[in-house]
Amino acid sequence: MKIFIDTADVNEIREAASLGIISGVTTNPSLIAKSGRSFDDVIKEIVTIVDGPISGEVKATTSKCDDIVKEAREIAKIHKNMIVKIPMTAEGIKAVSILSKEGIKTNVTLIFNVNQALFAAKAGATYVSPFVGRYDDVSEDGMQLIYDIVDVFTNYDIETEIIGASIRHPLHIVECAKAGCDIATIPYKVLMQAIKHPLTDQGIEKFIKDSSK
Ligand code: G3P
Repeated sequence: MKIFIDTADVNEIREAASLGIISGVTTNPSLIAKSGRSFDDVIKEIVTIVDGPISGEVKATTSKCDDIVKEAREIAKIHKNMIVKIPMTAEGIKAVSILSKEGIKTNVTLIFNVNQALFAAKAGATYVSPFVGRYDDVSEDGMQLIYDIVDVFTNYDIETEIIGASIRHPLHIVECAKAGCDIATIPYKVLMQAIKHPLTDQGIEKFIKDSSK
């Protein structure tokens, strides 16, 4: 399973990239706003840090197919690694169908059921992003959603890759990997939580003590 980092904070991206295990970056309008910088500014810096797929989302106010297509073409022009993130709506799917024929890579976001994932894939999406944590938030089973999409995509050899998104804790990463999800996109804090184990820390402390005996 590939690991992407889910943030628009370039310091976090730099730090995570230095681990050597990050294959891509995902952002969304909320993460860009949190960075306090403009979309163009932050994206142009991110592409210099990670040489892999970088998802940049169309503006939240861009809802009509023609406008999505126009904006997506501009985002794609920024860098060869740009993936245009498009929300899962009928207009969004129309746009993905047009863009995929032009060779523009897309990530269909805010996926909350298997049909949405299947239709996005049929439109030619490069990635689909089911939101695990937000589904859990409304008393639904976020991980089951991942299992179900993996199942259906496997049945039909669908090439669209599944990004486990809205990852909130380390167990979500483990479950994504067990489900056969292609990618988990992980916030910096969760990535660092997942690296650590108290028994590792205790073990190191003991080794240090013993080695000085
Ligand atoms: O990848 C999607 C992610 O940014 C959403 O996460 O925690 O806001 O549901 P969250």
